[in-house]
Amino acid sequence: MTVPAVPRASRRAGAGTLSAVGRFYVTTPIYYVNDAPHVGHAYATVNADAMARWHRLAGDEVFFLTGTDEHGAKVAEAAEEHGVTPQEWADRVVRRFQDAWTVLDISNDDFIRTSEPRHRVTVQELLGRIHDNGYIRLDTYRGLYCVSCEDYYTEDQLVDGKCPVHGRPVVEMEEDNYFFELSKFEDRLLAWYDEHPEAVQPVTKRNEALAFIKGGLKDISITRTSLSWGVPVPWDAGHVFYVWYDALVNYLTGIGYGVDEARWTGWWPHVHHLIGKEILRFHCVWWPAMCMAAGIDPPKEVHVHGWLLVGGQKLSKTLVRDADGPVRLTEIAPQALTEDFGVDATRYHLLRDVPLGSDGEFTYEGMVTRYNADLANNLGNLLARVATVVGSKCGGTGPAPDPGSPLRAAAEEAVAGAVAAWERWAPHEALAHTWSLIGAANAELEANEPWKKDPGPEVDRVLGSALEALRIVALLVTPAMPRTATEIWRRIGLDGSPEERRVPADVAWGGYPGGVPVEKGAPLFPRRKD
Ligand code: ME8
Ligand code: MG
Repeated sequence: MTVPAVPRASRRAGAGTLSAVGRFYVTTPIYYVNDAPHVGHAYATVNADAMARWHRLAGDEVFFLTGTDEHGAKVAEAAEEHGVTPQEWADRVVRRFQDAWTVLDISNDDFIRTSEPRHRVTVQELLGRIHDNGYIRLDTYRGLYCVSCEDYYTEDQLVDGKCPVHGRPVVEMEEDNYFFELSKFEDRLLAWYDEHPEAVQPVTKRNEALAFIKGGLKDISITRTSLSWGVPVPWDAGHVFYVWYDALVNYLTGIGYGVDEARWTGWWPHVHHLIGKEILRFHCVWWPAMCMAAGIDPPKEVHVHGWLLVGGQKLSKTLVRDADGPVRLTEIAPQALTEDFGVDATRYHLLRDVPLGSDGEFTYEGMVTRYNADLANNLGNLLARVATVVGSKCGGTGPAPDPGSPLRAAAEEAVAGAVAAWERWAPHEALAHTWSLIGAANAELEANEPWKKDPGPEVDRVLGSALEALRIVALLVTPAMPRTATEIWRRIGLDGSPEERRVPADVAWGGYPGGVPVEKGAPLFPRRKD
């Protein structure tokens, strides 16, 4: 079964407000290698992965970048505690991230490490340009610094004299630093956001960014002399760039800025950054201003997600290491979840439980409940009962769907809803729409009870339509659960893989051919007793 590629202009007809471009460049934050990854990092990375997979399924050319942020005081501090060099430490910890992403089936096209030579090239090129353009000056800096945030605070931002994010004591720092003249960009940033209302999403986060800018921007210190673990400043040998100033540039390193003009200019207009809400100011104030200062457009879209909370606290590597209390991150490392629930169930939960943009409590009990309800009882049960009855009533050969099935309207609604939701970065809604089709298919089976009837055209129509619903479900869950999608596809007798198909072109009702073998197999999601 070969399906020809669908031309762009027609593939999303009628699917609501859709992007008009055929390229999609998506990034995650690059994670600090001070410690191992936890489920919060998995949350961001799985969401970006699902978006990348959605766009591939929709026919876009995709570039998906993730990686690690390896410079700065925080990583140098962790290395020192372990008695190794920062590079050795980074080399050790980066594997933990790469292993976690392999386990979670993350489909990144590249992995950027900021200690790589290619990153030094791009940082020096971009910052050199900002310097040449006259937006960098030398001055003395004094301030209160949180090493965990790699950020300065003012006295009134502190909570009980400590960092508002980590609750750690801040340190007083004074340095001769180069400053980026962020203050010159207030009007230009406001004008940019005025012309590009979609540039920060959701709108509550856009308002937060606007409030920052309207509150007045101060010049920012962008180099350090107190530290040597960083990218050297090309015009002054004693300085390295401040970690955030090098980190943000990774998004340009990944597409070859300063090295391959055609490549980076081809991808940059299509960039979508996914970030956690605590790094909004860096991405929505500093980064667009840096881009402007270098003479390039600010990022097209920044999507801001919320935090997973455990007992109301943000999961964080630092908090966990320092906690006396009940925060036990080791119990919720990404691999702990995949070993317990399976890869796809973990991905599903991270995508389905919390709307992207909101905070959400992460609980084991919540994960078990959702697993049993959505995966074991709904999706797993649909596949199992259809395959069983096809076995007993149709000799194991799947019948063709009924063009007049009542499921057809449910499928069309689910497809339209899911497509529109994926397009606006709402995986949890896309999955809710997909599950409405699963629910309708289960209800239709219960209404007809084909297991109680004699084999014949009526039973065939009902089962063929349920198989068609499963085929459509397999395509719609591909971005979230690629293994499950492939397994459903195989068990209902289809060739190739769902990833080779296109949505929405290939989800039109009637695509299931009939006359193909259906396999029962073991339960996809065995019910959990805990
Ligand atoms: O900030 N819930 O790295 P980082 C949800 N290196 N997401 C979470 C989370 C939680 N509890 N905890 C972490 C840095 N994250 C910088 C970024 S980018 C140029 C440099 C996710 O290791 C979330 O996406 O602290 C957050 O923004 C990111 O991990 C921060 O990871
Ligand atoms: Mg952090």
